[in-house]
Amino acid sequence: MTRIVSTHSYRGGTGKSTITANLAFLLASQGAKVGVVDTDILSPGIHVLFGLEAGSTPYTLNDYLWGRCSIEQAAVDVTARVFPNGGHNGGCIHLLPSSMQTGEIARVLKEGFEVDLLNDGFHALCERLELDYLLIDTHPGVNEETLLSIAISDTLLLVLRPDHQDYQGTAVTLELARRLDVPQLLLVVNKVLPAFDQRELSDRISTVFRTPVAAVLPLNEDLVRLGSSGILAALSPNSDYVSALRTVSKLVQS
Ligand SMILES: Nc1ncnc2c1ncn2[C@@H]1O[C@H](COP(=O)(O)OP(=O)(O)OP(=O)(O)O)[C@@H](O)[C@H]1O
Ligand SMILES: [Mg+2]
Repeated sequence: MTRIVSTHSYRGGTGKSTITANLAFLLASQGAKVGVVDTDILSPGIHVLFGLEAGSTPYTLNDYLWGRCSIEQAAVDVTARVFPNGGHNGGCIHLLPSSMQTGEIARVLKEGFEVDLLNDGFHALCERLELDYLLIDTHPGVNEETLLSIAISDTLLLVLRPDHQDYQGTAVTLELARRLDVPQLLLVVNKVLPAFDQRELSDRISTVFRTPVAAVLPLNEDLVRLGSSGILAALSPNSDYVSALRTVSKLVQS
């Protein structure tokens, strides 16, 4: 059985794609078969963290949605890029990117697409690639594909920063996720100044939202320097950010 894990936040720029890519690395390095889907169709981006140029893959998720290819044809095996020196213990990462072409994005905006197709596609991908995990990177806010991603998830990682706008939005999304009966609901607090009392922040947020905080991820200078040009877990496995994310990886596996 594939475990489906969605990473979502109400507001943009909270760190969803970075968390998803690094989590994929941590899981694959333990030998898991991991699929990563970019459902941020209107503003795709996670392919950048995996070193893929826009337009460099024969197909994208959009091609699948328009019936131009099968779902697994749209997936790219990025294992060799992410683990150039091996060390993945039989694990692998298959990335399903969304199109960066303006025309394709405009078509989604204009025509929409059949959300059921996305659901069928996700399940077919899990089965055909025999995935242990399917990680879904989402568009911020609430839209149809996000609702679907949340509804089919075994685990929802809801990302927030210590920011009052994020707090309000998180309350809205949590209510939605509860209605959708997601089995494992976890908060991930990101971009926290290392000088903050992380334990106090974690306790306060878990109490206010009545939801467990899986990790408090520090604001990390190396991530800022990297600017999405790579995966920190591969480059700096002992950094504070990666160590904290390992807790999330363990919870997702439990
Ligand atoms: N803990 C962190 N410390 C420092 N920078 C971070 C941290 N987490 C993410 N970033 C940076 O913040 C920016 C936004 O991150 P990311 O793209 O992962 O967010 P996102 O939630 O996926 O955004 P969007 O909502 O636009 O999809 C990137 O430049 C990323 O490198
Ligand atoms: Mg993103």
